[in-house]
Amino acid sequence: MKKIQISPSILSADFSQLGNELKRLEKGGADMIHVDVMDGHFVPNLTIGPPVIKSLKKNCSLKFDVHLMISPVNKYIEAFADAGADIITIHPEATDNLKNSIFKIKKLNKKIGVCLNPASKIDLIIDFLDQVDLVLIMSVNPGFGGQKFMPKVLNKVKKLKKIQNENNLDFDIEIDGGINFDNCKAAIDAGANILVSGTTIFKSNNGNIKKNIDLLKSQ
Ligand code: DX5
Ligand code: ZN
Repeated sequence: MKKIQISPSILSADFSQLGNELKRLEKGGADMIHVDVMDGHFVPNLTIGPPVIKSLKKNCSLKFDVHLMISPVNKYIEAFADAGADIITIHPEATDNLKNSIFKIKKLNKKIGVCLNPASKIDLIIDFLDQVDLVLIMSVNPGFGGQKFMPKVLNKVKKLKKIQNENNLDFDIEIDGGINFDNCKAAIDAGANILVSGTTIFKSNNGNIKKNIDLLKSQ
């Protein structure tokens, strides 16, 4: 079984203190940093882009797990790779040529992730499962932090895990949206090995990041 890893989403961090927030995450035992990039078009919210990622990366030794919610994604891939993204995750609906976008990310020597919205089916990515490093399963509709976990996506995680086992594949299964102390075990039992969490990590237990990361790992 893969080691359980926590990828805190900085969407719930104090944006006036982002550098310090990353230090707190590093000290608290985060395995990587989840960066939510939104364009106000593919999703109804706007966040940050390559220049901010580039500055943050300079003072952080953790890997950047960059979740691109932007469309069309293809023309921005290089900018995020240059800015320091280590994993670049894209939505199949955000590109008119998924094969090409995957190839582009791999050619830049970055890890490639593909992401499925709650309503998106595994069929959309089935032909590429042998090429990707990570599959991100959304457990909320992307766009905002602090939403309620949708338990129905656990079936998709289970199905994906089964396909993975049957075909001897090795990608990580990451889950994103509404993860808390009550549902993290179900997500792990279903097959997820990377948990993204924003609200729970930054807001629970008075923002005690280390405690929250440890609790998510040990439920
Ligand atoms: C939603 C983002 C998530 C989100 C997670 O569009 O992709 O990464 O910020 O935050 P919580 O844990 O608050 O749902
Ligand atoms: Zn995300």
